[in-house]
Amino acid sequence: MSELEHTDESAKATDSAAQISDLLVEEREFAPGAAFSAAATVNSEELYQQAHSDWEGYWAEQARGLDWFEPWHTVLKWDPPHSQWYLGGKLNLSHNCLDRHLSGWRRNKAAIIWEGEPGIEGGVAEQRTLTYQQLHREVCKFANVLKKLGVGKGDRVAIYLPMIPEAAVVMLACARIGAVHSVVFGGFSPESLRDRINDSQCKLLITADGGWRRGNIVRLKAESDKALEGGACPSIEHVVVVKRSAGEPFPCHIQEGRDHWYHRLMEDASADCPAEKLDSEDLLFILYTSGTTGKPKGIVHSTGGYSVVTYNTCKYVFDLKEDDIFWCTADIGWVTGHSYVVYGPLQMGATVLMYEGAPDYPQRDRFWDIIERYRVSVFYTAPTAIRAFMKWGEEHPRAHDMSSLRLLGSVGEPINPEAWIWYHENIGASRCPIVDTWWQTETGGIMITTLPGLHVSKPGFAGWALPGVSATIVDEKARPVEGSASRAGLLCLTRPWPSMLRTIWGDDERFQETYFSKWQDDQGNPRRDLYFPGDGAKRDSAGRFMILGRVDDVLNVAGHRIGTMEVESALVDHPAVAESAVVGRSHEIKGQAIVAFVTLKGSSPALSARSTHPADIIDELKAHVATKIGAIARPEEIILTADLPKTRSGKIMRRLLRDIAEGRTLGDTTTLADPAVVENLRQMYEGQE
Ligand code: PRX
Repeated sequence: MSELEHTDESAKATDSAAQISDLLVEEREFAPGAAFSAAATVNSEELYQQAHSDWEGYWAEQARGLDWFEPWHTVLKWDPPHSQWYLGGKLNLSHNCLDRHLSGWRRNKAAIIWEGEPGIEGGVAEQRTLTYQQLHREVCKFANVLKKLGVGKGDRVAIYLPMIPEAAVVMLACARIGAVHSVVFGGFSPESLRDRINDSQCKLLITADGGWRRGNIVRLKAESDKALEGGACPSIEHVVVVKRSAGEPFPCHIQEGRDHWYHRLMEDASADCPAEKLDSEDLLFILYTSGTTGKPKGIVHSTGGYSVVTYNTCKYVFDLKEDDIFWCTADIGWVTGHSYVVYGPLQMGATVLMYEGAPDYPQRDRFWDIIERYRVSVFYTAPTAIRAFMKWGEEHPRAHDMSSLRLLGSVGEPINPEAWIWYHENIGASRCPIVDTWWQTETGGIMITTLPGLHVSKPGFAGWALPGVSATIVDEKARPVEGSASRAGLLCLTRPWPSMLRTIWGDDERFQETYFSKWQDDQGNPRRDLYFPGDGAKRDSAGRFMILGRVDDVLNVAGHRIGTMEVESALVDHPAVAESAVVGRSHEIKGQAIVAFVTLKGSSPALSARSTHPADIIDELKAHVATKIGAIARPEEIILTADLPKTRSGKIMRRLLRDIAEGRTLGDTTTLADPAVVENLRQMYEGQE
């Protein structure tokens, strides 16, 4: 047994490898069609060769595809783990997304085609289209609104909006004046919104009276009011409220002096707002993501490098062409929405489709109906959605003409081969290549995938590191795990890349500790040059990476990252809870589901003290987590237990809990303080099922 196999992390990687390998009963390979390859932007190894022979030169060349007000003098300054890219260069991402498309015919091209959730019942969907010129005008006007409200370069702006065109408008307006946006997913609770606002001291909050989701109105303004209640967010000076519907606003409270309707502010705003000439390293945005502690991390991205990677991955990975209609189904509250709904495709001058609502509203064919009606050509979604579609049945896609599709993408979690093949056959008509793209909030853009016109892909394997990206698999000692077909190890990025996170907002030490201290040199000093993404991986004999999922205490539930500690903190916040331990269990649709083991306060079982039925307290605890964090973190299952299995030093043995939650044969219990605890737990758990 190698040293790698002794740790919890490597055990996780090895477990996942074994599970996935079981699925690869028959390893199949899929080559792109000749016509697709011939027309593809990349159909040779040339880019890889360029990047290999002159790595910095490659990244300089990629940056030349954008407009720069002033050229950079240094491509990279690498002071591990801090990198700076395109030093001395001045640019503006909003300019690259908008202004540079206005001089020719593209000004009249659709930048965003938006469809709202309601209205489809009568055969006519609620729909808006913004051409590049119109979008530019809206963005300039809102940039002036921001200035009028006292927002300037470097100020933080919180955005808590549904999937409506204004979400893109306000992001681009922030980028235009150098304000730093922090988008908070509309599904997060008021408390999560409040914590994020306070952590980065946002000056302004932009929200909406509501948005539609599965036929219901999500009242974001009311949620925002709860977040701000009693002066809980003292940094907020103003709140801008977008009226979602064309008619009457959804009922909401407008606090005189603090709250302003977006449409009223826009009435008087000038449409003249030249883009600020920003330094390449000026901050662009903060996006919070879950880590291994209870507190989410504010991932900080800067302007130049992020622009280059989101642009060049749209060009090479999504192979975007002038007449494509690109639909990335992610919400703008996640990094995928930032990079592939807004910034990447708009820099390319592409047409983006944006949809407000749920995939099963009013029927389970809504996505396919949208693809048919707008002739979507490139479609990018998450494995969890694909598994739901599989379950709903192929009759839904079959009922629609989806011949416009030419390329499919997957992101957010490992895609199991069965889902890959279903996606390929039923959505891609066995004709469209699939790009399985591995990346993270921290990487800003896609890092590992196939190039659709060049590579033969294999279900379950994401592919290779993109040109200019250096990835490898190592063990606990940073020794390379050679490209054998079976061994799992830890994924590691060995060189900086332009769109890498610059730090964690307000906590550079945590940045260094989390991502750049996994491995040590011979003197025992941390290797600050090696980035640890927190994922396990293995390779096939052709060198393709198979990403095995998180090896740290982060879960991936329906493609969303949730820290086990966050859920544990939410649970112990409940007055009845003494202690909790949260683990993931594999789930048919969501990939992983949250299972929480909870001990209640008082004598065991503490339920009697509250004279509450177990089922009631379980429901109460689930609701409590949803209120604290958001519905995405609601545990699938809560197991009440008198004790948690601990080592003699008092550490909770999560591996055993995972084994119990998965119904697996129990792992090693020799270091357990009281082995009976596990046995009791397992019996209880089996009894509950
Ligand atoms: O575990 C990996 C998984 O999602 C994590 C990143 O989550 P987040 O920052 O929320 O960004 C998601 C969208 C980019 C990774 O550490 N992940 C993402 N893409 C893949 C993946 N796992 C396997 N295959 C992928 N294609």
